[in-house]
Amino acid sequence: MAIDLKAITNADSGLIGRKLFTDREIYEEELERIFARCWLFLTHETQIPNPGDFFTTYMGEDPVIVMRDSAGKINAFINSCRHRGMKVCRADQGNAASFTCAYHGWTYGNDGKLIGVPNFQDAYFEQLDMEQWGLVPVTQVDSYKGLIFGTFDATAASLRDYLGEMTFYLDYLVDRREGGAEVIGGMHKWISPTNWKLPAENFAGDSYHIPTAHMSALMIGASGRAPSDFEIAGFTARLDNGHGLLLRSTFSVGAELSRQYEESIRPEIARRLGEPLAEFTPLVGTVFPNFSPFYNQRTIRVWHPRGPDKTEVWAWCMVDKAAPDDVKQEILKLYQQGFGPGGMLEQDDGENWPLCVQTSKGRAISPYPFNETMGLGKDFDSERYNERFPGRLAHFLSETNARGFYQQWEKVMNVS
Ligand code: FES
Ligand code: FE
Repeated sequence: MAIDLKAITNADSGLIGRKLFTDREIYEEELERIFARCWLFLTHETQIPNPGDFFTTYMGEDPVIVMRDSAGKINAFINSCRHRGMKVCRADQGNAASFTCAYHGWTYGNDGKLIGVPNFQDAYFEQLDMEQWGLVPVTQVDSYKGLIFGTFDATAASLRDYLGEMTFYLDYLVDRREGGAEVIGGMHKWISPTNWKLPAENFAGDSYHIPTAHMSALMIGASGRAPSDFEIAGFTARLDNGHGLLLRSTFSVGAELSRQYEESIRPEIARRLGEPLAEFTPLVGTVFPNFSPFYNQRTIRVWHPRGPDKTEVWAWCMVDKAAPDDVKQEILKLYQQGFGPGGMLEQDDGENWPLCVQTSKGRAISPYPFNETMGLGKDFDSERYNERFPGRLAHFLSETNARGFYQQWEKVMNVS
């Protein structure tokens, strides 16, 4: 790589070079080193509950089909025909026993095997070894309590080890109640002219932007608190492998039904997950590199990279399976009001992240790094909760998680 990354970024000191968000060569290297090696979120099991169900997504820029084969096993394959590359499955999701390529008709089973080739006898003279030409599999696929991840790296540590301490906090998303969680409604997908790392690091723990960027939403009570009441009790949890999240003292947000619901299930949460998670609620976080659960708004999202200055955002609404239907519908409505392309809060950051990238493309500004030094040297000073919560805890207003995110970025990108 021609660029000396060490010269432009130093996560330990909180100085992050602007080229990380604008440079094509760095972006291509990220596809190689980050998106081809890390565990990436694919979908939730409730989106493919039955044999033959499939869901199409991306790992980096590789299109991928996640499918449950006829025996019920979940596999993932690159969504590209082995003949001449056509996208084998062009639907977002559905159910199929097989997939026939629209170009020349090669057909693949829902286990990825090539099972049909037009003119196999009279044109190929049966000389094509069909065993060798199945869809290319994603090397490892695994799930954590319904959250399905994949990696192209055969040598990657297990998903459980990769998530590490984050599993404690993911449980608040997917294991609060008997039956776990489910995805409801459709999905939002939109393009944002920004770099994927800006939303990922924001969700990992940028509490600092809330009272400024989201002031208008706070003023109409969208967060459940008045703006003057923003200094809430909470903290930042910085976890291994670049993961991180924010927690806040538990209070109920949302409309009437969902607020009553949250209060009613608190004893069950305490019983299942322990008192600490009933007392302090995960607010928002990121599993490195690009999967972010936003607990408060009951949404999960993936920041798909599409170029140094382009990100495709995918957002789902996720609820407790055991919640009553009217509560689920209210949560879905609240999510849509707050997030997604038309959401009150999403629009604020939808303006911020692209403009952070746009200004950084300038020639003169390029040598001046971003300042992510807030709380430097005080990264791990929330002694009070250390024993009750995994991770290294810091003040609610801190950029420690951003530094952790970029430390992991530097490690995976081999900056030394
Ligand atoms: Fe798929 Fe030819 S590209 S059959
Ligand atoms: Fe925000």
